[in-house]
Amino acid sequence: MNRRELFKSASALAVAGLLPQAAFAGTNGPDAADKGARETLLLDKGWRFHDGDIAMPVLVTHDQTYNAAKAGRALGAASPAYDDSDWAEVTLPHDFVSFQPIENGTNVDQGYRRRGIVWYRNHLSFSDADRGKHIELQLDGIATFATIWFNGTLVARNWSGYNSTYIDLTPYVTYGDSDNALVVRVDATAMEGWWYEGGGIYRDAWIVKRNPVHIVTDGVFAHPVKEGDEWTIPAEVTVFNSGSKEATAFVNMIVTAPGGIRISEARISVTVPALQRQTVSLNHSLGPVRLWTLDDPYLYEVETELLLPGQTSPGFESHPFTVVLDYVEQFAGCRTQKFDAQTGFYLNDKPLKIKGVCLHQDHAGVGCAVPEGVLDFRLRKLKELGCNAIRFSHNAQNKALMDACDRHGFLVMAENRNFNASTDYLEQLEWLVRRDRNHPSVFLWSVFNEEPMQGTEQGYEMVRRMSAVVKSLDTSRPVTAAMNDGLFTALNVSDAVDVVGINYQQHQYDAFHEAHPDIPMFSSEDTSAFMTRGEYKTDAGKHIMASYDDDAAPWGATHRQAWKEIAPRPFVAGTFVWTGFDYHGEPTPHTWPTNSSFFGIMDLCGFEKTAFYIHQAQWIDDRPVLGLAPHWNWNSGDKVRVMACANLDEVELFVNGKSTGKQAVDRLNMNYWTVDYAPGFIEVRGYRGGKLVSKVRNETTGKAVALRLVKDRPTLTGDGRDAMPVRVEAIDAKGRVVPDAHHKVTFGGTAAIIGLGNGDPNCLEAEKGETRSLFNGLAQVIIQAPEMGRNPTTVINLTARADGLKPANIEIWLDAPKSATPRQPTMSPMMVLDSWFRAPDSAGPPDPNQKAADTDMNSWAWFRPGELFGAAKAEGYSLVAANYTPFARIQKAGGRIVFTNITGICDIYLDGQAIGRKADPAPAGLSVAIPPFNGARRLSLVFKLRAGEPFGLGGPIRIGGPTEA
Ligand code: GAL
Repeated sequence: MNRRELFKSASALAVAGLLPQAAFAGTNGPDAADKGARETLLLDKGWRFHDGDIAMPVLVTHDQTYNAAKAGRALGAASPAYDDSDWAEVTLPHDFVSFQPIENGTNVDQGYRRRGIVWYRNHLSFSDADRGKHIELQLDGIATFATIWFNGTLVARNWSGYNSTYIDLTPYVTYGDSDNALVVRVDATAMEGWWYEGGGIYRDAWIVKRNPVHIVTDGVFAHPVKEGDEWTIPAEVTVFNSGSKEATAFVNMIVTAPGGIRISEARISVTVPALQRQTVSLNHSLGPVRLWTLDDPYLYEVETELLLPGQTSPGFESHPFTVVLDYVEQFAGCRTQKFDAQTGFYLNDKPLKIKGVCLHQDHAGVGCAVPEGVLDFRLRKLKELGCNAIRFSHNAQNKALMDACDRHGFLVMAENRNFNASTDYLEQLEWLVRRDRNHPSVFLWSVFNEEPMQGTEQGYEMVRRMSAVVKSLDTSRPVTAAMNDGLFTALNVSDAVDVVGINYQQHQYDAFHEAHPDIPMFSSEDTSAFMTRGEYKTDAGKHIMASYDDDAAPWGATHRQAWKEIAPRPFVAGTFVWTGFDYHGEPTPHTWPTNSSFFGIMDLCGFEKTAFYIHQAQWIDDRPVLGLAPHWNWNSGDKVRVMACANLDEVELFVNGKSTGKQAVDRLNMNYWTVDYAPGFIEVRGYRGGKLVSKVRNETTGKAVALRLVKDRPTLTGDGRDAMPVRVEAIDAKGRVVPDAHHKVTFGGTAAIIGLGNGDPNCLEAEKGETRSLFNGLAQVIIQAPEMGRNPTTVINLTARADGLKPANIEIWLDAPKSATPRQPTMSPMMVLDSWFRAPDSAGPPDPNQKAADTDMNSWAWFRPGELFGAAKAEGYSLVAANYTPFARIQKAGGRIVFTNITGICDIYLDGQAIGRKADPAPAGLSVAIPPFNGARRLSLVFKLRAGEPFGLGGPIRIGGPTEA
């Protein structure tokens, strides 16, 4: 059902008297329904970035100290008037750390990239039509410690690099021509993890404009549950009223199946006093449902409207008009879950062994600022792997990724970052649960990973509190913690969780189960094995790990060993392999120059290692799997170990057409042969029930002669945000990928390149720019679509060149976006003089350079231009003044001061020198030239007062360049 139909249904209810007439002040009137009362605007543009810290000015005088302690008066780079005009322009998401070179001496776990302190500034513009709306800033993720000022007032601090920050800007916003300065200082010297965490505003930012009476952010909880045979949604909706009067409205909630079939509708009245929030409960009875399963992740749409009945629109007086105050659309999936201490996990009452991977959030080339198109690519690779669950270790994720997990059909273990039961940290946990509890994919809440206090009474007490916070928001999923020790102490964390996650410690599975036969358990982390993609000989000196699955960390196990411990034990509900993809940082077992991990089933670009085929063979039952390694480019006489990974009955290896005999498939250990190399090919044939069902051939290639570019998807959406990875291959004359090609490739074309990678953990090349070497035949370029403007570009291209190889060129067609991306308007930086002082009026002309004493905070009154002073009481003079330091370019070249509205007669002085006059008392703008000058200046206006006539500064005062009007 569309918005209009919904509106009609609500009107009908009002007519039928089901909705009471409400008295409400502060809405935007009837047309709010037409506009859609909520605007969600992307704030990705207009950002200026300073790499490095900017010290706050040292306070010396009383005047400085007094003023710095006031709202709206932040100093230094936090001040609205700070000169950021020469800062670099950047677009969000922006992981500034991913732009840094890889340098020895910096932190190993952060991938040897410099972090540090940086600043971001933006200048937002709000029209007069925005007055009266509730305006919220949403920052989806900033690494790591963020301090946020808006118009000179400190509005938030967020001390986690993984949590969102929602800030009510409404009280501080200025409208019309005003500049609204948003400033973010990011301290990324702070670290929360031992892996690459990125830095800066690395997720999206939004401005959300709503009616003062609105549904709060993350304020709709609608997760279906099954009671007996009945499916219901016990929903909760939280409404806030930032208006000045109590309001009564209706929450109307509709559950719709794809195709628009309405399943359920429920409504309830809510009365919210001014500046309070109210939570109402609604219940949906769903009747028979289509389940959300991993193969058919069927989603219902849940629309929540906040309705105001009873207002009429001209011409429709006989029909009470209904205003849609707010609207939220989200999705829900119907599935059940159960952990059984003896038999493991059940999804929709069917046993399901968890075949999961742990993931960090970064990807090659883009660091932690991973576009949705790349997240989607990663999830598709995991599906192909046969993976059914993801543990987001060890922190909250981008919300787009959570949505994608619902759509792709993955189970998600959502994990909290900081193990801490103090108020700040409990709020972080609360935020995580509130934001993610609607996702059918989420099946476990994890409160920690490997915490030293896990085996202590203190650890137990902390988890008990954290678990209570989770339960207060969601009782439908169990709470867990990933323990690597302390499992057998008298009182430990396993006593405070619903399901125990065990990291490594595979030798303890049986003992723990015997000691606690009633506690469900699973492997929250295992494996930690090492492989370099495309390498088959371990060379410790060169930091290369062979891909035969022989090497693992001392605390871990190989891919095969780890699963061997889990597969046969029904009480171990499943696995989370460390890790699905390689990640930047935490290089193990080798360090510099190695700067990313060897743990991945896939490399940093998502290219398969042999672990990919091992897990396919272990995990996939519903289709034939057959993988073969290694490549077949060796030196004559080499003895080569060949590995086949299959889920079939038998495999047979052929070397240059000659069979080496059949082997029974070993799905746990895989199948191996050692054969003599001779150029030609190896082929493995897989049989089921005696029949050939699959074969794979690796051929000796010729030398590389050309490059090939392979798109991940046929097209991109021309919205300026959509992105995709493109695979770069070196091929021989027959089009076969040459597995030992390492050419340096230079990229060009009209596609924007936002990152480069090749999956080599030892590579020190920059991940930004136009050049990247192939690693074992492959590299990856991440390209981003332009925004299709008025003259749409319909196709972009990417080219690749390397010495001695035929270049490649691909075209990528752009799909028109369904609609233009709504964006928050921003302004280019301009100095706005918004802080003025007014002296007591005088009978005679005052000295324009006159100042209040440094300790006198009361004789002169502070004001912000915009409102007139009203009518003068008597003849006389009024002095107003502002101190400022012009932006560097204006100090150098001079400029103009633009008064958008002066009312009354006045003389204008700069440092006591007359520079302009306004002789006509009528309200008007005025622009006066200012000469070049180094340093601070004082601007004064002396109004000539005429009894009974208004005077003052009715609009903002800006200082621009010499051509400013
Ligand atoms: C685990 C830890 C992971 C990662 C892994 C490497 O102990 O939970 O974050 O460090 O080891 O093997």
